[in-house]
Amino acid sequence: MLRTPAIVLNVKTYTEATGVNAVEIARLMEKISKQTNVSLAIAVQACDIASCAKEIDIPVYAQHIDPIKPGSSTGWTLPEAVKSAGAVGTLINHSEHRLILADIDTCITRTKDLGLDSLVCTNNVFTSKAVATFFPSMIAVEPPELIGGDVSVTTADPGIVSTTVNAVRSINTTVKILCGAGVKNGKDVAKAIELGADGVLLASGIVKAKNKEAVLRDLISGI
Ligand code: G3P
Repeated sequence: MLRTPAIVLNVKTYTEATGVNAVEIARLMEKISKQTNVSLAIAVQACDIASCAKEIDIPVYAQHIDPIKPGSSTGWTLPEAVKSAGAVGTLINHSEHRLILADIDTCITRTKDLGLDSLVCTNNVFTSKAVATFFPSMIAVEPPELIGGDVSVTTADPGIVSTTVNAVRSINTTVKILCGAGVKNGKDVAKAIELGADGVLLASGIVKAKNKEAVLRDLISGI
């Protein structure tokens, strides 16, 4: 299970974080995590899991798995495959790759079968509560309209973070709760923690930054 408070970077399918670029960002995160002892993890495209996990000593997550077992599922992502590539966990139900509730449940069950962490993304308080009943390892609440934007969820909609934390905690006291969308700096991270979150999930703030190291160090200053 990921140590918290944590900063989880989802590199999505940005060119700046594909292939060798993914390994380079993961290496930078490994260096900074070792220097600061702050828990950092990276979620990369399926084809980049093996290269990152082989070379880098921070937790590597898949960005998605499908609710399937080994067999005849051409083109789908098998949970066993991301595990054997070196992932220690996976995002599930990201806003850019949504699943129906029954499939989220099956995906979480599959991660439990395999000893993988499950980081389930949710879009509001209600879906967060629904997912909490499945007992994933982590929930990350991200208002879709703020994803990729310049204003952090912690500024634009702090209420969604605190309400999600309280609502989820009333159902499930063990799940870790992250928030994301528009997170850019240490102030945003500090606010997330003040609102009751166990960390943040972010993407463009690091991936699109010219000086990724400076941004990472600033983010960490909020923990
Ligand atoms: O998975 C993280 C993500 O959806 C938030 O993206 O670019 O707003 O940090 P971003």
